[in-house]
Amino acid sequence: MTQSRRNFLKNSLVTASAVAGGAAVGFLGSKAQARPDLVLKPALTEHSFLPDTLTSKVFSYNATGPAPVLRARQGQPFHVRLENALPEETTIHWHGLRLPNAMDGVPFLTQPYVYEHETFDYIFTPPDAGTFWYHPHCNTLEQMSYGLNGILIVEEEKDPGFDQDLALNLRDWRLGSDGQFIKLYQARKSARSGTFGTVKTANWQENPLFEVPSGGLIRLRLVNTDVTRIFKLGISGATAKIIALDGYPTPGQPGLDQQSVGPGQRMDLAILLPEEEGVDVELINYSASTPWTVSTLKTKGPSLKRAIGDLKPLPANPVPIPDLASAEHIPFEFTATAESAPKSGFCGSLGFSFWAINRQPWLGVSPDPMAPMAELKLGKSYIFSFINRTPHTHPIHLHGLSFTLLKSNKRPLEPLITDTALLLPDEQIDVAFVADNPGDWLLHCHIIEHQKTGMSSFIRIT
Ligand code: C2O
Ligand code: CU
Repeated sequence: MTQSRRNFLKNSLVTASAVAGGAAVGFLGSKAQARPDLVLKPALTEHSFLPDTLTSKVFSYNATGPAPVLRARQGQPFHVRLENALPEETTIHWHGLRLPNAMDGVPFLTQPYVYEHETFDYIFTPPDAGTFWYHPHCNTLEQMSYGLNGILIVEEEKDPGFDQDLALNLRDWRLGSDGQFIKLYQARKSARSGTFGTVKTANWQENPLFEVPSGGLIRLRLVNTDVTRIFKLGISGATAKIIALDGYPTPGQPGLDQQSVGPGQRMDLAILLPEEEGVDVELINYSASTPWTVSTLKTKGPSLKRAIGDLKPLPANPVPIPDLASAEHIPFEFTATAESAPKSGFCGSLGFSFWAINRQPWLGVSPDPMAPMAELKLGKSYIFSFINRTPHTHPIHLHGLSFTLLKSNKRPLEPLITDTALLLPDEQIDVAFVADNPGDWLLHCHIIEHQKTGMSSFIRIT
């Protein structure tokens, strides 16, 4: 089927509105079970990131190794129990999911801290299929940098039919040559593009190798859980196409040319593997002066003889269509200069104020948060202008809602649906959405040092 990209999106949006219907979507499943589907128990552990070293003070949602890849089903209730075995308080935020506000995992704004030995039940029904992830929203720079982040896959109602489904958690670690953590940030870097890690991993390993079926058509899910790095990803040795960005299906144009994936963002690829056995296919990051191989796939077995166009595009998610004619327009200016005094927070603030949204720096959550930056009416459509007045790129993330990219003053933009927009230096991006999910929702840069030194805020929908 050859459909133009724009038509595809238009058609998928039409389907979307038919499904979503009225103003407020009922996200919470009706028959929430008392017993959780699974328990996540974040705890202190050790891990070997470098040969012959054992890194201590690693935090994981697993007893050993990286966090489990969670699988929920679109439209089915999902129940995770957080049992906090860390020596400090935490919460879990479900990045990219449209869920009830009370399940969003932001201390003081949506729930209390979950202290050591306490539990909290997260229960929600994901309305959208795709690749999402989870991480704490408390002492965020430390907890994420020490290892608390994991992938959440929401499976489509119908299996899309790939031969293999592989998920990679991409992140760096700030380790010295002895394998131990070094200071997580340098203030002068926090005030610029952020402090980068020293050891680059996928699923907590340097360039891990995976066996894949020769001639097979696989789905590769890439999740940037790093606190700083913007990846530019390409595939060498196979044909790849992007089938979803940030969980939302794209028309799937063939070819992959150094696609940017910022902190918080996700990319799903369909990859057609070479027919011969024993061939290496490499996932390469080009965002640094010396590109490096993030992970290697090695073909195995007789060829499955698949073709890149074998599978249908993924079905659209039921995100309501904003009414642009009646939409109210709200600007958000991201600056490096603040005019008002910072409202300090104690949940992991770095103690510096380098950034601001609409001239107000917010350093973190606190029991006495500042007023919302915007108050929205439930069911109304809005256009947000994200205006970058800095020479740095910022991945701007909105909780609890998904927005459509409308236009940029710098480049052509496809009308993709996302929760995290990569805002280039001096760029203005307009996005639109229906305010269909009541509550207080964070809006912040996902370079965590920027978030923690002022580039954070929240909006209220009532
Ligand atoms: Cu990925 Cu405020 O979060
Ligand atoms: Cu930023």
